[in-house]
Amino acid sequence: MPTVISTINLKGGVGKTTTTVALAEMLSGEFRKRVLLVDLDPQTNATSMLIGDERWGELNSEGRTLAKLFSDALLEPEKRSFDLQATLVRKASRVDAARSLSLLPSSLDMIDTQDQLGSIPSGRFFAESPPDILRRAVTPILGEFDIVLIDCPPNLGIITLNGLRMSQAYIIPTIPDILSTYGIPQIVNRVRSFSETIAQPIEPLGIVVAKYRTQSTVHRTQLRILRKQKDAPLFKTRIPEGNALAEAANPQPVSTLRQKWGQEGFRAYRELTAEVLERIHA
Ligand SMILES: Nc1ncnc2c1ncn2[C@@H]1O[C@H](COP(=O)(O)OP(=O)(O)O)[C@@H](O)[C@H]1O
Ligand SMILES: [Mg+2]
Repeated sequence: MPTVISTINLKGGVGKTTTTVALAEMLSGEFRKRVLLVDLDPQTNATSMLIGDERWGELNSEGRTLAKLFSDALLEPEKRSFDLQATLVRKASRVDAARSLSLLPSSLDMIDTQDQLGSIPSGRFFAESPPDILRRAVTPILGEFDIVLIDCPPNLGIITLNGLRMSQAYIIPTIPDILSTYGIPQIVNRVRSFSETIAQPIEPLGIVVAKYRTQSTVHRTQLRILRKQKDAPLFKTRIPEGNALAEAANPQPVSTLRQKWGQEGFRAYRELTAEVLERIHA
């Protein structure tokens, strides 16, 4: 069975999705892992970064996204039509080298579903347990992968709990500024209590500093604070803020990951991925 890792931060715009997609492509392209990226964020950014908006639009209009899975949970079992194989996008990266990467795409429609899942009276709930919808659905294909990465929305709602429910560990990407690091203790505490509730360990694998600016005194100070905190271990690798990494949001067909991120970005993501693998094995 694969190692399953969620990425979480309560704040948006901290480089969470960019880091998750980069880890997924790196694990596939450089480390020869079979990777599944599950996009649980209704913002659909990971999906767009991999397959582009046009392809996403087609899949979405055909009901081939995870929104279908979650809206099905509100229906009686015989009325459900989520099709896992039809929803799974194989060879999801436009980088030739990252061929062994598959994607379960998200949809903007999950915003509505998330609200409905939260407010449905328990008697009308046809799924056994609301946080267990994703795990039950994807179990049949997990054996095909070495690593599953789950990009969670920036909250700890029912959709995020679905990601955590099937994760052994989680990563917290953050910009090293005051507001972005603010919620980290809350995340760690909430995940710990959820982990106790389901009686399954969900370990904080580490905090990733993303969009780092060496010249920024705020970033340098916050980095020192992050090194001292005890909520979750800090990854040594920092992801620098850079143009090539921002441009990676718009997927272009390229042969290699070096072409996609440039030398500096490539090196940073490679080091981070090696650290992630080290911690998984430890
Ligand atoms: N290392 C980086 N250097 C420059 N821009 C980045 C970097 N990482 C992310 N970005 C950009 O910052 C914005 C927010 O990143 P994103 O990964 O979408 O954050 P989140 O998922 O936390 O909301 C996006 O426009 C993205 O392209
Ligand atoms: Mg995001």
